[in-house]
Amino acid sequence: MLHKLLKESVYTVVLTGAGMSTESGLSDFRSFQKGLWKHKNPQQIASTYALQHNRTEFIDFYKMRIAALQNCEPHQGHHILAKWEEEGNIQSIITQNVDGFHHQAGSKRVAELHGTLRHIRCQRCHTQYENNLYLLNQYECKCGGFLRPSVVLFGETLPYEAIIEAEKESNQADLFIVLGSSLQVAPANHFPIEAKHTGAKLVIINMEPTDFDEEADIVIQGRQIGEVLKEVDEALHC
Ligand code: APR
Repeated sequence: MLHKLLKESVYTVVLTGAGMSTESGLSDFRSFQKGLWKHKNPQQIASTYALQHNRTEFIDFYKMRIAALQNCEPHQGHHILAKWEEEGNIQSIITQNVDGFHHQAGSKRVAELHGTLRHIRCQRCHTQYENNLYLLNQYECKCGGFLRPSVVLFGETLPYEAIIEAEKESNQADLFIVLGSSLQVAPANHFPIEAKHTGAKLVIINMEPTDFDEEADIVIQGRQIGEVLKEVDEALHC
């Protein structure tokens, strides 16, 4: 039972994927039903290649995602994780998500592996701007450089600090919980195994099966993350 593992653990780390934010109204990428990548090739849209050679589709894709972000907010699951950090039930979050919802819900220790869609930056001078410029069809910096989202594109390296932080946290964890990720993208999918191999208990909460379920000590499948976290929170405090 997850609430018992949480009570017994000394150092709990949570890895979240796009499935953590679908209950906030944002699409994920690979759900069988309607993930963003269902009918598109991410390499052609969210990549350094697209940034250079397919800029119209690149802008349209990120404009759509920034617009979606404006109408969504963290759900109960994000707030429960922030509360658990406050109470000392979890120590940190590693996220593949770029929506900023963990910070918005109050979580402090969050390693954003894939950057953030919360702002955009100039490709030339690296000046940072609010992301709503995309919604105003403004894509050019004062210096003339192109403004791109501060997310990691396919073909780019992940932020060094976030990777080092995630490595450190995964190796320190005695309980590692995966929430809403298909675990199909590296290096994020290495961290659950690194934690497991350094002695942590592994819990995977995901609507669909993942390739790592056999390694997990607990697998909770087919259920909404927000509901599961609410039940665990109630059991933790009863
Ligand atoms: N509750 C539980 N699980 C859910 C929910 C939910 N409410 N909604 C979706 N899921 C599950 C889906 O079944 C899916 O297996 O979350 C998983 C999300 O997986 P992906 O869409 O592959 O997203 P993610 O694992 O975060 O992808 C990693 O790939 O394209 C890149 O940059 C992108 O950060 C992303 C990375």
